[in-house]
Amino acid sequence: MFWCAFVVLFLALGNELHLSHTTEVSVNSTENKLCLYANLMVNFSVTYEVGVNKSETVLFVLPENVTTEGSTCKNTTSTLKLGFGDWHSWVVEFTKDNKTYQVDSIVFTYNLNDSSVFTNSTSNETKSVTTKPRITNVGVDTYYSCKSENVQRVESVTQTLYDVTLQAFVTNGSKSDTDTVCAADLTSTTVAPTTTVTTTAAPTSTPTLPTPTTGNYSIAPDFNSTACLMATFGLRIGFKQGDKVETINLVPSATNVSGACGVNSSNLTLTSDTIKIMFTFSNDSKKFHLHALNVTVKPATGAAVVAVNTNMSIWAAAVGSSYMCNKEQTLTVTDTLTLYTFKLRVQPFGVEKGEFATAEDCRDDTTGSWIVPIAVGVALAVLVLIVLIAYFIGRKRNQGSSYEHF
Ligand SMILES: *[C@@H]1O[C@H](CO)[C@@H](O)[C@H](O)[C@H]1NC(C)=O
Ligand SMILES: *[C@@H]1O[C@H](CO)[C@@H](O)[C@H](O)[C@H]1NC(C)=O
Ligand SMILES: *[C@@H]1O[C@H](CO)[C@@H](O)[C@H](O)[C@H]1NC(C)=O
Ligand SMILES: *[C@@H]1O[C@H](CO)[C@@H](O)[C@H](O)[C@H]1NC(C)=O
Ligand SMILES: *[C@@H]1O[C@H](CO)[C@@H](O)[C@H](O)[C@H]1NC(C)=O
Ligand SMILES: *[C@@H]1O[C@H](CO)[C@@H](O)[C@H](O)[C@H]1NC(C)=O
Ligand SMILES: *[C@@H]1O[C@H](CO)[C@@H](O)[C@H](O)[C@H]1NC(C)=O
Ligand SMILES: *[C@@H]1O[C@H](CO)[C@@H](O)[C@H](O)[C@H]1NC(C)=O
Ligand SMILES: *[C@@H]1O[C@H](CO)[C@@H](O)[C@H](O)[C@H]1NC(C)=O
Ligand SMILES: *[C@@H]1O[C@H](CO)[C@@H](O)[C@H](O)[C@H]1NC(C)=O
Ligand SMILES: *[C@@H]1O[C@H](CO)[C@@H](O)[C@H](O)[C@H]1NC(C)=O
Ligand SMILES: *[C@@H]1O[C@H](CO)[C@@H](O)[C@H](O)[C@H]1NC(C)=O
Repeated sequence: MFWCAFVVLFLALGNELHLSHTTEVSVNSTENKLCLYANLMVNFSVTYEVGVNKSETVLFVLPENVTTEGSTCKNTTSTLKLGFGDWHSWVVEFTKDNKTYQVDSIVFTYNLNDSSVFTNSTSNETKSVTTKPRITNVGVDTYYSCKSENVQRVESVTQTLYDVTLQAFVTNGSKSDTDTVCAADLTSTTVAPTTTVTTTAAPTSTPTLPTPTTGNYSIAPDFNSTACLMATFGLRIGFKQGDKVETINLVPSATNVSGACGVNSSNLTLTSDTIKIMFTFSNDSKKFHLHALNVTVKPATGAAVVAVNTNMSIWAAAVGSSYMCNKEQTLTVTDTLTLYTFKLRVQPFGVEKGEFATAEDCRDDTTGSWIVPIAVGVALAVLVLIVLIAYFIGRKRNQGSSYEHF
């Protein structure tokens, strides 16, 4: 293990840099050689409680003036610990294998007792959030460079990293001249504008996934009864992992169905290896609607994403009918998770003989919007016909009368 000596470089040069809050730090090893270098900007947004059911959100930036005590450089692991203000800290853990190194985690610790930042906070605790930004596959002996924003959201904290230059495991005591550029910088100039039909600020799904297979799901009160709840749809889930949007399709053949029908509420739970989703429908005796969604996605890599929304009122239709929406529908569950449904039909209450009752179509579905133009078209055609007939009758009469005149 090394005992390292630490150095903080203050950017006293250049007035223009004062505005941009660039934080530049260098960490020296015991041999007094540079072993870790960082030059970056971080914006924080923290929501904290200021009273019963009341919260405030404060925005601040990683200051230029930070300490690096607690930073360490070892053979295959390194820690960059930046301390600032009243016991706040921002800690980056690096690991290295033979050819590349990466950031394993960033732990941001903030002290709610610091009233100069967290005014009127009801708590005086110190809290921590851990994120795993996608800073991977950085070539050994190169520096990582990323001008694009890298947004990390966890719980009540949002961290935005940008204009990042980072090098860990510096060899020979000097920063490398070669960089490893992040994917976002490489693609940001070629990203096409999004063309989603829906108006929500939903993450745009990657176009590579095929349309999900339509599944048929039903719940029966017991083994000998026919269904009391029926649903058919194809389901895609879009969720944020760091600043990236991933999409995943539910595969009906690999999905387990469970649930229960009640008088006022019915539940449908679909479970696959990677997705668990519970739909809760409620019934106010005249109409039903989808009231709550609880979605858990376990992606192949990274942490599980959980989204719960208990305040929905979509898929509404009269009790005794079903709700149908053939076109792709986008449902924003939370700002990190969005559902896309395809060829949807649901009836959560009062299913008889295992068949859907007549459907109420979604407002913006094609059938609804076609009726008006068709009606107008037919009316116009009839009008034209009447005018034509009137014209010919009139002409014939005129001709008749003109013959009499001759
Ligand atoms: C850190 O190392 C650099 C050379 O790598 C040296 O110029 C600098 O003086 C060192 N800083 C301290 C505080 O020892
Ligand atoms: C970070 O915060 C500063 C000051 O509040 C602001 O000027 C800047 O635009 C923010 N940057 C990003 C990427 O949000
Ligand atoms: C706080 O919110 C909870 C749940 O939303 C509610 O039950 C409670 O009455 C609220 N308390 C106050 C003081 O508003
Ligand atoms: C930076 O921090 C040190 C101690 O942490 C303090 O003495 C110094 O005045 C600070 N400089 C600025 C410009 O804030
Ligand atoms: C770390 O690297 C140095 C020099 O490269 C080597 O002498 C030392 O044995 C290594 N230590 C470990 C624990 O691998
Ligand atoms: C790294 O190199 C060592 C020997 O040089 C080898 O034994 C090890 O398998 C390599 N590890 C990786 C992840 O390539
Ligand atoms: C919070 O800060 C006050 C001074 O501002 C100090 O007296 C108190 O001990 C601190 N409490 C905790 C839990 O750190
Ligand atoms: C803090 O609380 C006081 C009194 O309750 C209020 O006047 C002040 O505006 C609050 N400050 C903030 C930043 O919310
Ligand atoms: C702050 O922490 C102390 C214990 O460290 C506790 O006694 C006190 O009630 C706390 N104050 C607030 C406002 O939470
Ligand atoms: C289901 O039907 C079988 C025969 O068809 C009968 O033996 C059994 O008791 C029934 N179970 C229930 C719960 O009604
Ligand atoms: C549906 O789930 C909700 C929440 O878990 C629960 O309160 C409700 O009782 C369930 N309804 C039925 C019919 O099981
Ligand atoms: C959501 O589902 C998960 C796992 O299925 C469960 O642990 C959690 O309590 C549920 N949350 C709510 C608010 O129902």
